[in-house]
Amino acid sequence: MKILVTGGTGYIGSHTCVELLQKGYEVVVFDNLFNSQIDVVDKIKTITGKEVKFYKADMRDKESMRPVFEENTFDAVIHFAGLKCAPESVEKPLEYYYNNMTGTLNLCELMNEYGCKRMIFSSSACVYGMPETVPIKEDFPLSTINPYGATKLMLERVFTDFCVADKEWSAVLLRYFNPIGAHESGLLGDNPNGIPNNLMPYIMRVAVGSLPELSVCGDDYDTPDGTGVRDWIHVMDLAAGHVDAIRKVTSEPGTHIYNLGTGNGYSVLEVVHAFEEASGIKIPYSIKPRRAGDYATSYADPSKAKAELGWEAKYDLKKMCEDSWRFAKTQIK
Ligand code: UD1
Repeated sequence: MKILVTGGTGYIGSHTCVELLQKGYEVVVFDNLFNSQIDVVDKIKTITGKEVKFYKADMRDKESMRPVFEENTFDAVIHFAGLKCAPESVEKPLEYYYNNMTGTLNLCELMNEYGCKRMIFSSSACVYGMPETVPIKEDFPLSTINPYGATKLMLERVFTDFCVADKEWSAVLLRYFNPIGAHESGLLGDNPNGIPNNLMPYIMRVAVGSLPELSVCGDDYDTPDGTGVRDWIHVMDLAAGHVDAIRKVTSEPGTHIYNLGTGNGYSVLEVVHAFEEASGIKIPYSIKPRRAGDYATSYADPSKAKAELGWEAKYDLKKMCEDSWRFAKTQIK
């Protein structure tokens, strides 16, 4: 089977390419390299011993994607490409709506034109807004608090509507909790441009000495140690979830929605201490005020993905930190 991975040189995309190739799928990637490097393609080859066909294309320019569809026939599309920084989206809503919405609609027009109507979509737990109770189930109320989240929720709706209108369409919407970790080769991982917004990339920069200390944003939440609790999930577990979703998307038309999380929550300070343990490096931190838009606790009920996809997370926080550290010490400056 041949799979198109949009945004395949990005953090989750690149790990998913590795998993796909190791499971015997043919992989074609397009990316505009806005937030990733072309050498990721070689790293995927080094890890798997297999080729990825790469195209530089930008979803905002539909014709730039046409050769990808002209030269290949796909069994399914796994769609990661898009802008993903929640606070940035508040400052630049037009860029977020244009990239994520218009770009994805361009992609869908080509999918329809070339007869590939199977979509595995990179959604996010941010579609649950400020969760009132945990664990979070797929049928919880949906809302968003920033333009980034709004694009995820609107695109979920777009694919759902496609599946109603056209019985050949199938869409698997995967709502990720908090991906961290790296491929165990140490070659692939999360290394965003600029100062990181998310916790683990920030910790990694402090660990290698390129940032002086971590700010822990709030220690007065209603959680055991007062810091935010999240469902951290190893990126390779997330990658495996996409491969498991291929069976669903190629066999059952309609919309299928799954949480991808471990079902466990760990606090910010627990992550800091687990990372210190794994790396042997002290992470200096200070307590700062709460970050706008943050909430106390979020973790998944992942039982639907287990029942329907046969997927469940395998790796624990220790492994997530060990793999993050292996990546950080060789790849982050
Ligand atoms: C964030 C996004 C979410 C996105 C997800 C991707 C926001 C509000 N939400 O989730 O939409 O899908 O990333 O992974 O941006 N923290 C610190 N210091 C830091 C960074 C984070 O204390 O330097 C704390 C935060 O306050 C929070 C926890 O770490 O309690 C997790 O933060 P982060 O890694 O940014 O993830 P989310 O905010 O859960």
